[in-house]
Amino acid sequence: MINRCCVSAVLSLALCASVFGQEPIRYLAEKKLWVLDTNTTSYVFGVNERNQLQHMYWGKRLWRDADLAADHSLGEWSSFDGVASTTPGEYAGWGSNMYTEPCLKVTLQDGNRDLVLRYVSHEIHGDRLEVVTKDIQYDLFAHLHYRVYPGAGIIEKHAVVENRTSQPITIESAQAGTWYLPPGDGYRLSYLNGRWAGETQLVQEDIHPGLKILESRRGTTSHQTNPWFAIDAPEGNGSDQEHGPVWFGALGWSGSWRFSIEQTPHQQVRVTGGYNTFDFAYPINPGERLETPPFYGGFTSHGFGEASRMLHRFAREFILPGGLSAKPRPVLYNSWEATEFNVDEPGQKALAEKAARIGIERFVMDDGWFGARNDDHAGLGDWYVNPKKFPNGLQPLIRYVNSLGMDFGLWVEPEMVNPNSDLYRKHPDWAMNFPGRPRTEARNQLVLNMAREDVKEYTFAWLDNLVTENNIAFLKWDMNRNFSEPGWPEAGPANEKKIWVKYVSNLYEIIDRLRAKHPKLEIESCSGGGGRVDLGIMKRVDEAWTSDNTEAFDRLRIQEGFSYPYPAQVMMAWVTDVPNYNGRSTPLQYRFLVAMMGSLGIGNNLNKWTNADFALATQMIAYYKTIRGTVEQGRLYRLFSPRAGDLTANQYVSEDGKQSVLFAFLRAQQYGRPTPTIRLRGLDERAVYRVRALDGSKLVEKLETASGAYLQNHGLNLLLTGDYDSTSVLLERVE
Ligand code: DGJ
Repeated sequence: MINRCCVSAVLSLALCASVFGQEPIRYLAEKKLWVLDTNTTSYVFGVNERNQLQHMYWGKRLWRDADLAADHSLGEWSSFDGVASTTPGEYAGWGSNMYTEPCLKVTLQDGNRDLVLRYVSHEIHGDRLEVVTKDIQYDLFAHLHYRVYPGAGIIEKHAVVENRTSQPITIESAQAGTWYLPPGDGYRLSYLNGRWAGETQLVQEDIHPGLKILESRRGTTSHQTNPWFAIDAPEGNGSDQEHGPVWFGALGWSGSWRFSIEQTPHQQVRVTGGYNTFDFAYPINPGERLETPPFYGGFTSHGFGEASRMLHRFAREFILPGGLSAKPRPVLYNSWEATEFNVDEPGQKALAEKAARIGIERFVMDDGWFGARNDDHAGLGDWYVNPKKFPNGLQPLIRYVNSLGMDFGLWVEPEMVNPNSDLYRKHPDWAMNFPGRPRTEARNQLVLNMAREDVKEYTFAWLDNLVTENNIAFLKWDMNRNFSEPGWPEAGPANEKKIWVKYVSNLYEIIDRLRAKHPKLEIESCSGGGGRVDLGIMKRVDEAWTSDNTEAFDRLRIQEGFSYPYPAQVMMAWVTDVPNYNGRSTPLQYRFLVAMMGSLGIGNNLNKWTNADFALATQMIAYYKTIRGTVEQGRLYRLFSPRAGDLTANQYVSEDGKQSVLFAFLRAQQYGRPTPTIRLRGLDERAVYRVRALDGSKLVEKLETASGAYLQNHGLNLLLTGDYDSTSVLLERVE
């Protein structure tokens, strides 16, 4: 059982700051407590009698400051567990006798490795708070930054470490912060695990005493684990999609990252996240600083569905370029699965002409257009148009695509170089390396060291030229391997490990400058599929490639996991040819409907399509255009999980509540066994909706209209039969 927090009274979800006339951030001076309120949650921490920061509460919104008592550090349990380990430090340095995961660990040049941070001062500016802490002896400061997003229910934290001593300091661990749950046990952790072509698989497991690490050591976000967590308290059956408490967080960083999920012997459950500590050493000279990535956290009492909806809305409003006014994503065609590297002007034009016919809005030419790129052995780094494939450059193709009413997108992989390239022959030192040692190739390529200023400037310059000289609306920015031999000899031994941070901050800088100079340019984050999807890259890209695995049935699980933290708007999903990946063949309609639960793309070889395929595609794309606002920007309800049985069903409700769309997929029917009734969510029970199934014969009750009450309580009965059947039902509010 969870010991509920020491604070008693709570109010309903609907209460918001304005009701109480309270500011989102308050300092209760007499108790030395900060209260950070969103409309639905409270986060409280303070200064204890040792002048150290101590966490107090994170959960459902509190309303009565008088309930909160000044905090005091917890006592020593024994000589083996002193105050530093028993007290929930808000941002603890590694020092004294602390044995839990610290937020900051340093070594000073004089040999001191002890760090004890004490409160110095703070400033509140509206929804932002900065608390300054300092070591008990040295002028080593940690500035803790908080931002409250009241409507989103999200709190952001990050730290800036500042060296005001007169000696260099090496930072060995810099975390954004620690999230504490109410002390107790019986918690369950949810996270996303996977692999190339099998990203974002939801894993749920009980939290036991001890330490669980989720991380990437790969230099980038990774296919293997995504920087998101959720923790629920499975009292009874645990939290489900619509009920129960869920605490969740996501890190905004596209390099090596780490979450430490601990349950201490004293039943503190804490999640500390930031830069990965593995191979980490970041020296800062006097006067220098290091900033951690932001860590965003939220809480809901309304299950995993609401946790996702909160993060979706937050990403759309505060993270993604364009914010809430971003236009729906264009329906895209990509040539990769049709042609692979065999691109040329006539071939691409032929595909473009067919793509335009079915309603495509953006035509993207993938890999193979540059240098000596005929397969994956050569060409990366040589970003000039291949003269054999495009004798007159890209202009004729782009003009043709534009004349068909589509904009043009292009694939690039700026961080990579093939050893078989002019760039590598000229600048072998630009690839990450430890001098004199082997350089491990993956997909026949090496990683350019973006931490170097010359590599960064070179990369920006060629991308800028490419976009300046051609009418390019969109770049698919790929990255097809992780770091190896991450040496940076030019930086010198003391600074080489800065590569883990510098690489990513320079990558961010290139994209930021490119977007600033070309404000209409859109970018997709691709890394051999979903290898770089996180709230850091999402600040600077419009969408993400979910997975190289485009097989529709596998996609149901990949997309389900993706949907826990990230909105459908950024989830690129293509329809492709069958058999694909597993050798599985699903009907074209099934493939369309799966892809229509994200940002729709088509990756088929249109030269092989029949008239019937074209007709179905035209109909499906037209349908998608009527619902994409609801799918991409609406509220998602996961009704039946692909992990739980043969039926998968997801429903989306537009923000204004006027439209809703249901997607349903059957893996396999046992003869005579009906599809389970699907009870809808997110509707107004007093409202009446027009009900239209994509294929009317799949709706058992021949409803033309139905009330929200009927749809949510009685539910819909669908007639899905055989293998890989699917349908979609469109609801439009009429009364
Ligand atoms: C990996 C991407 O994920 C694919 O979609 C495709 O762009 C290839 N790279 C091209 O090399």
